[in-house]
Amino acid sequence: MKIMITGGNGSLGSRLAAPLVWRGDQVTLLDRSPDPRVRTPEFDQCTVAVADIADKEQVSKIVADGEFDSIFHLAALMSSDAEENPDVAWQVNMIGTCNVLEAAREHGVGRVIFTSTVASYGHMTEDPVPVDAPQWPESLYGATKVAGERLGVYYHYRFGVDFRGLRLVATVAPFGSTGGASGYCSQVYLDAVQKGAYEFYLKPETRAPIIYIEDAVGALIGLHDAPASDLTRRVYTLSGIAPSAEEFAASIRQVLPEVQFTYKPDPVLDPIVASWPDRYDDSASRADWGWDPGYGLDAITDAVIPALRAAIEG
Ligand SMILES: NC(=O)c1ccc[n+]([C@@H]2O[C@H](COP(=O)([O-])OP(=O)(O)OC[C@H]3O[C@@H](n4cnc5c(N)ncnc54)[C@H](O)[C@@H]3O)[C@@H](O)[C@H]2O)c1
Repeated sequence: MKIMITGGNGSLGSRLAAPLVWRGDQVTLLDRSPDPRVRTPEFDQCTVAVADIADKEQVSKIVADGEFDSIFHLAALMSSDAEENPDVAWQVNMIGTCNVLEAAREHGVGRVIFTSTVASYGHMTEDPVPVDAPQWPESLYGATKVAGERLGVYYHYRFGVDFRGLRLVATVAPFGSTGGASGYCSQVYLDAVQKGAYEFYLKPETRAPIIYIEDAVGALIGLHDAPASDLTRRVYTLSGIAPSAEEFAASIRQVLPEVQFTYKPDPVLDPIVASWPDRYDDSASRADWGWDPGYGLDAITDAVIPALRAAIEG
């Protein structure tokens, strides 16, 4: 298959490209950055299209020339970056998504996979959060993701684009994204390996839902590959594990006992993270396309630390 990943040089896009290449897909990475966040061996087998997702003509031309069967639309500004640069976030997250859907319609791309977020639910008291709980996010990032979901569903019903959305929880990865309030869950590993110390901007007991990057990549491919007849919805939700800050520290200390952890709760970030529900109803994802995460916290620690060491020590 011919597949384009927007934001393909980001944390998730870089990892998603690898298994697609392994199975023989021709992968194009559209990104404003020419360099991948993580350079996998498969990167050299991908085509890189350096472009601004907010540029309608550029996106349309790349999609027309690529004759893609599917697009994974990942390009976005994450939550903290969006709050700092709201104009850019609107261009990337909103106009960019319009451009991708319009190009898919115009050039007959069969399938569009959209990465949304559980942050789109806003403050929720139910635990687990029902999949169709009202979405009233308080962040610009969340608002753009809700709008992207709705626009995609509109393109499905109006124009027949096979739009499939996935609400991800925070994704832990070696060199993972740090542009959101959940950025600590990847940064803690990097600082533990590089500096031997990490100061959480959280209280020790503050917890948040996470999944490992391999599970996120597996979910995106699982949803993409599912036969249309198996799907009962257009947008699915994932759930994960929800370790506290001190549980992260304990897990990392099992591998790196000398690391020093301190806690300096940020008056803005700690309440945001603490407000996130721990669990989401992911039963439709499990039933319809086989979502079945494999990584617990210690398995994540055992995967991330050696990967970081190998990358840092060369
Ligand atoms: N990482 C997580 O914890 C998480 C959680 C929920 C949802 N998501 C969603 O998953 C997707 C991928 O996340 P990620 O962790 O890989 O983020 P990331 O920040 O690592 O990657 C985003 C990529 O988009 C690119 N990009 C930004 N602006 C662009 C523009 N104008 N034109 C072209 N490319 C542009 C960036 O260069 C970057 O490579 C995003 O849509 C994000 O909202 C991620």
